[in-house]
Amino acid sequence: MRNDLETMKTVLEGLSSRTSTSDGLAAERRPVPFANAVPVDPAPSAEDLRPVHDLRDTLQRRRSLLHYAQQPVRTDVILSSLGDVLARDRADWGLDDTAGELVAFVFAFRSEGAPAGVYRVTAGETAHLAGPDELGPPEDLGVQREFSTAAGIVALYADLDAADSWAGSHGYRVSLVRASMATYDFHLRCQALGLVGTVFGGLIPSSVRHLVQGDGVTRHPLLAATYAHPMPS
Ligand SMILES: Cc1cc2nc3c(=O)[nH]c(=O)nc-3n(C[C@H](O)[C@H](O)[C@H](O)COP(=O)(O)O)c2cc1C
Repeated sequence: MRNDLETMKTVLEGLSSRTSTSDGLAAERRPVPFANAVPVDPAPSAEDLRPVHDLRDTLQRRRSLLHYAQQPVRTDVILSSLGDVLARDRADWGLDDTAGELVAFVFAFRSEGAPAGVYRVTAGETAHLAGPDELGPPEDLGVQREFSTAAGIVALYADLDAADSWAGSHGYRVSLVRASMATYDFHLRCQALGLVGTVFGGLIPSSVRHLVQGDGVTRHPLLAATYAHPMPS
């Protein structure tokens, strides 16, 4: 644990700078497209999305868990929930056009309701990018092996190039806050649906870089969460 407060204060003060740390020309760059993406339209029923716990119970029961039941999770429900989460981010912050949009990548290991593999979700569209064979061993995705025993992992990516051109280090800070809000929004929706998981920072970006075109700048992972059914009590 870092306890060097002077260094930390310098870092925190630096985050208030609105001067771009780069050339400020993100609008002139185009992230690599997903040529082989197959659009999907997840449409779970209202019943599938109905919470089994109300807000009070969700908040009281919620805790991070690293041990999971091995049954598959309805990936169509995960994709639909994420679409709602990202639409909410877009509407609440109104920053997609200036500071870049948030994107969720779903790594579905054990899936029903949709094929396993890799998905890309934005506020406006969802697509299947790759199957489980291309994804490789789930344990390669995280620094803790427990993450790979979940039914899947969701990682929130931001466009740090756009955020920096918009407002320098402050743009990076806002991207972190947006990604955190979206991750917890997703995590709490899972908990309300009777699923479990943990929010975590330890995704290994290089393990999926080739699948998500993660260049570390226009697409950079900021926070992630596992999801799964709970172990029988
Ligand atoms: C930014 C962030 C990063 C985290 N990274 C990890 C992680 O790498 N591994 C892990 O097991 N938990 C991680 N967690 C989860 C915390 O360990 C967990 O939220 C904390 O222990 C509080 O427990 P609770 O969620 O049950 O309240 C992270 C949480 C946050 C907010």
